[in-house]
Amino acid sequence: MSRVRALAAAALSLAGCGGAESVLDPAGRGAERIATLFWWMSGGAALIWLAMAALAVWAVRSGPERHGTRSAALLIVGGGVAFPTVVLAALLAWGLSSLPPLLAAPPPTSRVIRVTGEQWWWRVRYGEVELANELRLAVGEPVLVELESADVVHSLWIPALSGKVDAIPGRVTRLTLEPTRTGTFRGVCAEYCGASHALMELAVVVVPPDELERWLADQAAPARAPKGPLAERGAAQWVASGCGACHAVRGTGADGVIGPDLTHVGGRRMLAGWLENSQHEHRRWLARTSELKPGARMPSFGMLAPDELDALAAYLEGLE
Ligand code: CUA
Repeated sequence: MSRVRALAAAALSLAGCGGAESVLDPAGRGAERIATLFWWMSGGAALIWLAMAALAVWAVRSGPERHGTRSAALLIVGGGVAFPTVVLAALLAWGLSSLPPLLAAPPPTSRVIRVTGEQWWWRVRYGEVELANELRLAVGEPVLVELESADVVHSLWIPALSGKVDAIPGRVTRLTLEPTRTGTFRGVCAEYCGASHALMELAVVVVPPDELERWLADQAAPARAPKGPLAERGAAQWVASGCGACHAVRGTGADGVIGPDLTHVGGRRMLAGWLENSQHEHRRWLARTSELKPGARMPSFGMLAPDELDALAAYLEGLE
């Protein structure tokens, strides 16, 4: 029975190794290299552990009289010095040799995406198209991510695609991403950067190349006009509340750069990096910003009347 339980526990813990943010379920070239290294190291460590356990059992079972001085010395020098030196040196050489391909720049014609870590969200730029907390990539196409920080040190980590790279104020660091299959993956900030560090998520959507081109063309278009009386009231409320001082909505004259560009905010995977992108959540976010993301620079707009919040949420959610 205990064996069944142990097997069930092992199966359950391995089930946690898959999914949208697993280094052991790679969906990109860099992550594949890292996973291969991990499996070889784990396999090697398991084999060595088994050999050591067998030796220990053998040592306990055989009497002391059977170990001659020469064979004991051979065991110590061979098994204790030569073997680990050779194995660890080989693993080190192999591990180091897999670094250059991980850090290699993509072909010069590759797309360049600029990602800026800010407290506590990711600004993502494809030329003039700007998004927040979302990265779209084409399967099989390597891209160069130029990583910057607007304030403190952040670290971009998309476990399923590649290793992590820090975003350092005043510097541009680079990361090559080459997705090998389509899907939605999760990126996080891997360097503690303040109160809402844990809410600094990034959705990474990998699609076929032609779909990415269509999506980019849609994103480059100016914002949709509000649909329906509630959204129209929301557009007026947006102006009255001065939202455009911090946010841009292309095509409306709002060109703030402090917060995320909201031109197509309603079409994004998530709101504020971790909330569902629905009218209800837009409303909750507007009214309770500092509760949902402690320390965020955006003030809460809980002082607005309920119908004003409803209208604003309807307008924003409609900006697809
Ligand atoms: Cu940004 Cu942690």
